[in-house]
Amino acid sequence: MTAPRRVCVTGAASGIGHAAAEIFLTRGDQVTLVDRDETALTQAAERLAAEHGADRVRPYAVDVSVAEQVEDLFARIADAGGLDSLVLAAGVTSDGFVSDMSEHDWSYILGVNLTGPFLCLKRAAPLLRLSSGGSVVAVGSVSAHVIGAGGGCAAYEASKAGLVQLVRAFAVENAPYGVRANIVSPGRTATRLGENTRRLAETVYTSADGPRRERHSFGAPLRFEGRPEEIAGAIHFLAGDDARFVTGTELLVDGGYTAI
Ligand SMILES: NC(=O)c1ccc[n+]([C@@H]2O[C@H](COP(=O)([O-])OP(=O)(O)OC[C@H]3O[C@@H](n4cnc5c(N)ncnc54)[C@H](O)[C@@H]3O)[C@@H](O)[C@H]2O)c1
Repeated sequence: MTAPRRVCVTGAASGIGHAAAEIFLTRGDQVTLVDRDETALTQAAERLAAEHGADRVRPYAVDVSVAEQVEDLFARIADAGGLDSLVLAAGVTSDGFVSDMSEHDWSYILGVNLTGPFLCLKRAAPLLRLSSGGSVVAVGSVSAHVIGAGGGCAAYEASKAGLVQLVRAFAVENAPYGVRANIVSPGRTATRLGENTRRLAETVYTSADGPRRERHSFGAPLRFEGRPEEIAGAIHFLAGDDARFVTGTELLVDGGYTAI
């Protein structure tokens, strides 16, 4: 049996982040839940505390794109004893063609999906280096590699492609300290964000012709949407000691979507 880990999960009030928090708690770890949606965060924390014990669940309402809030978060985590694993799951989707997108919308998506992880990695690094076996798992997306047929998600796709290289660079920089960093990139998964993507696909992608449209009409080879728990399983594997020889890599959990 491995020792309990001190874990921080961003985006923990919903979807993949919530499922990740749950799997760590189920295995006996302590989890700091981070989300900017205070109401949803409180509800999630109460439910998880009732099931796994209030002493193992610590909620913090934080917007990961705001530097001062992130600095304060990791100062509190340090005061509470430190950090072994960081899971970066907070994220938002974009909607709109490059030609129509405002600079404000572009900056908002990049702020949450790319600057947010940067701010968290910057503040978490000193704590992870003190851990014996520190690890990071960032939630990327197939959108780092594939443009949805018809387009309409450029800011999201650019943010996720940037995230992959940010985490790989962090992995190289922190390997000498025994800290690992990897990415789990889901295909479409049944969450609130996944539902938004599906709606976008229905409105934008149906105007696309040819093989790309086929791909969207029929989805991934496995022909079903992922469940948040299935993404969380991959996150848990990469965060823990079973993956101690794995760093700077990306695990696509997408039902074969990027294989075709
Ligand atoms: N669901 C999918 O189909 C899918 C596919 C590929 C990648 N992803 C990625 O998975 C991650 C989790 O998304 P999800 O599908 O669980 O969506 P979700 O909407 O259910 O959960 C995202 C959570 O992030 C929180 N959040 C958003 N902005 C934040 C901020 N600035 N600071 C703190 N918290 C913030 C939200 O409040 C929400 O609770 C995202 O990074 C997303 O890009 C999702």
